[in-house]
Amino acid sequence: MRPLNRQCTVSSQSVKVFAPATVANVGCGFDVLGFALHEPGDEVVMRLNNSGKTTISRITGDGGKLPTDPIKNTAGVVVDAFLAHLGQRPGVDIEVHKKMPLGSGLGSSAASSAAAIFAINELMGRPLSRAQLLPFATEGERAACGSAHADNVAPSLLGGFVLVRSYDPLDVVPIPIPKDLVATVIHPHIEIRTEDARSILKKSILLRDAITQWGNIGGLLTGLILNDYGLIGRSLQDVIIEPVRSLLIPEFDTIKRVALECGALGCSISGSGPSIFALSNALPTAGRIADAMKYALRQVGIDSDVYISPINEQGPKVLG
Ligand code: HSE
Repeated sequence: MRPLNRQCTVSSQSVKVFAPATVANVGCGFDVLGFALHEPGDEVVMRLNNSGKTTISRITGDGGKLPTDPIKNTAGVVVDAFLAHLGQRPGVDIEVHKKMPLGSGLGSSAASSAAAIFAINELMGRPLSRAQLLPFATEGERAACGSAHADNVAPSLLGGFVLVRSYDPLDVVPIPIPKDLVATVIHPHIEIRTEDARSILKKSILLRDAITQWGNIGGLLTGLILNDYGLIGRSLQDVIIEPVRSLLIPEFDTIKRVALECGALGCSISGSGPSIFALSNALPTAGRIADAMKYALRQVGIDSDVYISPINEQGPKVLG
């Protein structure tokens, strides 16, 4: 985007923003499908301070793993890119409060990027729409894991269930969803770095697998739009990425089997893993799936967190 050199009306001096975790890929839609959860998520506190610099004064919940250098931190990267676009340097201090695990497959870096870009836009008087903020947040993903995939940042920033129809130009389409759709997500307490989970993928695929996969993407989206749970279930199959990445996740096959036995429409890896998600069409079913998944992991001595969440249509919210 061209720099705007726009004189913005600064709306307030500080803001606290929450942005949600996300399930990317959603089975068949590697790098093109994602949806937002209600929890967990990250919080960013941002203050304008007339220093002319961007600083990161505090990061909590990361176990000391994230850089406080704004050039290396995803929140700092998106804020600087946004301010450069506006042609302004007001001076900003950022606190990042990680309320979800890193390397979990829940879009941790994307939630920080989405919260940061939403917060700075609020502070600068909302010069850009959420859709216009998305390319900046996507750059945060590049800083975090070397790949500017948008299937976490887009749902975290825009809310709901989204299709990244194109990356060049970036074209993100919101997908209507059935009102009873609910996700169960289990996070086994192991860490998989997105960068590593991407590096093990094959660079080319068989035409036969591509045909299966794009049939499933079309079927999944059609099922969501038509409220056809049977079609959603039949389509929630990934023949390309899951067979490779599931090898990194202990007990993946067992967890998927018990989820389906409990009535899940479908089950696959959340983002780059190790989290696993299942979709269902009723909260009690989602609860049974959660118990069964957790039990399966406990049997092999792996602790986990489980989240049950309808699709979060709102995306980021201002907390104060
Ligand atoms: N689409 C990305 C991947 C999401 O699967 O690598 C990472 O969370």
